[in-house]
Amino acid sequence: MLPLPTAVDPSSPTFVANAAAMRLQLDRLREELRVAAEDRSARALSRHKEQGKLTASERIQKLLDPGSPFLEIGALTARGMYDDGKVHKAGTLAGIGVVSGRTVMVSASDAMVKGGTIYPMGVKKALRLQQISMENRLPFISLVDSGGAYLPLQSEVFPDVDDGGRIFYNQAWMSRMGIPQLTAVMGLCTAGAAYIPAMSDEVVQVRGTGAIFLGGPPLVKAATGEDVTSEELGGVEVHCGLSGVSDYLAENDDEALEMLRRMADKLPAQGLPRPQRAPRPPLYDPQEIYGIVSPRPSQPYDVREVIARVVDGSEFEEFRASFGSTLVTGWAYIHGYLVGILANNGVLFSESAQKATHFIQLCDKRGIPLVFLQNISGFMIGRDYERAGITKHGQQMVTAVATATVPKFTCIIGGSFGAGNYAMCGRAYGPRFLWSWPNAQIGVMGGEQAANVLISVQNAQRLRAGEPPIPVEEEEMIREPIVENSLREGDAWYSTAQLWDDGIIDPAKTRDVLGLCLGVAGRTEQPGFGIFRT
Ligand code: COA
Repeated sequence: MLPLPTAVDPSSPTFVANAAAMRLQLDRLREELRVAAEDRSARALSRHKEQGKLTASERIQKLLDPGSPFLEIGALTARGMYDDGKVHKAGTLAGIGVVSGRTVMVSASDAMVKGGTIYPMGVKKALRLQQISMENRLPFISLVDSGGAYLPLQSEVFPDVDDGGRIFYNQAWMSRMGIPQLTAVMGLCTAGAAYIPAMSDEVVQVRGTGAIFLGGPPLVKAATGEDVTSEELGGVEVHCGLSGVSDYLAENDDEALEMLRRMADKLPAQGLPRPQRAPRPPLYDPQEIYGIVSPRPSQPYDVREVIARVVDGSEFEEFRASFGSTLVTGWAYIHGYLVGILANNGVLFSESAQKATHFIQLCDKRGIPLVFLQNISGFMIGRDYERAGITKHGQQMVTAVATATVPKFTCIIGGSFGAGNYAMCGRAYGPRFLWSWPNAQIGVMGGEQAANVLISVQNAQRLRAGEPPIPVEEEEMIREPIVENSLREGDAWYSTAQLWDDGIIDPAKTRDVLGLCLGVAGRTEQPGFGIFRT
């Protein structure tokens, strides 16, 4: 493979302006992450400490192998959504890390966030963590310390197919799939949450603070009139000695974490993917990406300049460079792993979609993971394009993306609009991981376009009713809220709060994040595609 050339001029006004805009966004990212990690009330912290507990992040730090990387998932989930934006990380600190040499998913309830209770976004996050564990066959370690369902929103966390019950349903399936599940009970496991340890393979419970019960003391009193303490109802003597729900007794958090490390040490060896060659840094500084991409997704640039700052040695073997050139396809190594890259260089035409379909089939046949760098306004529309079969060619690409069985990874590096989001492996298309850059924007279409569509629909209605079209001055009243809404709900911050991605990342770290993901995501399914409409 040959290195890509570069035409980037770091002294150009566009580069300087783009880089300044990106650095502002990165300052914001650092601050948002700091707040999500540290903003806990003094009352919650002292209550936690007086019980002799470690915090969620201390627990994770002590559990992981020293010096090993930790890939946090959903660091800004539920940002700004509940209780004046105080339900940081949806009450759960979680990510992929290494415990006794095994790569595992770790999830720790944060009891300093509303008693570790589970909000609707907490359920969504729990299900996403389990999905990552199942798709990548990663053992799952839970550090539970939770008041159970957040009761004021109980109807939103309880009954539906993707609500709380699904967590335990998944635990049963993970067990059937042979995915080890280890749990430390380091606080309350109340009601449904009692099933988290109960459905795990091995459970350690901490004396004094750890308790498991289907109904807490107040509920027992109300239901049966029985007076019982938390310890009598579900403490270590009960579950390690009498009921058999817990397997090991720990005197404190430190001992429980050490026991988990010993449990992990006995798990079977993992068949994780191995890099094909030694990793090499790109030839060009990844931080130059800041000056290449614009805060406005409509401002064009050559996406090869980004690829050159993500891949090993900046080397890229392009597939069909001069056909369907609005989509760049080709092979490269990232941290030593061979990947097939699909990156947007403009709107998707029939040719670009056909090229993508061919390229995805090549990678799938050869077992090469796919990386999608998404910056897409959608498919080309219009009479001639419809006649030439743009919808059919889109079907081929979407089918190839959806049914490819090699691991897929998506990074939204700019706009993500319309069917382009689907064809470029948006969340619904099953990428093993999906990350956003701070400049990412997502929507069916831009706010202006959406407003124009609605205005023309209303004008057509008026025409049918024999009324005059909307006066120009009233158009603004329709346009403004739609544009405002789409700006608010279309940015990376809103998106990551909803867990539409696994997190916002620094563009310069893209290759490192992808490298970690490639190292955990093996192929788990037999190849085979859906039917391509030809
Ligand atoms: N739903 C909603 N809010 C809850 C809650 C629940 N299930 N459990 C606790 N909270 C809130 C408390 O109101 C408090 O809110 P505040 O900070 O705004 O005052 C916060 O979480 C912390 O609770 P607190 O009791 O002050 O902390 P603690 O460390 O002494 O105890 C628990 C935490 C979780 C052990 C305790 O609150 C408790 O037992 N909760 C009820 C558990 C339960 O029965 N759940 C059934 C759910 S199905």
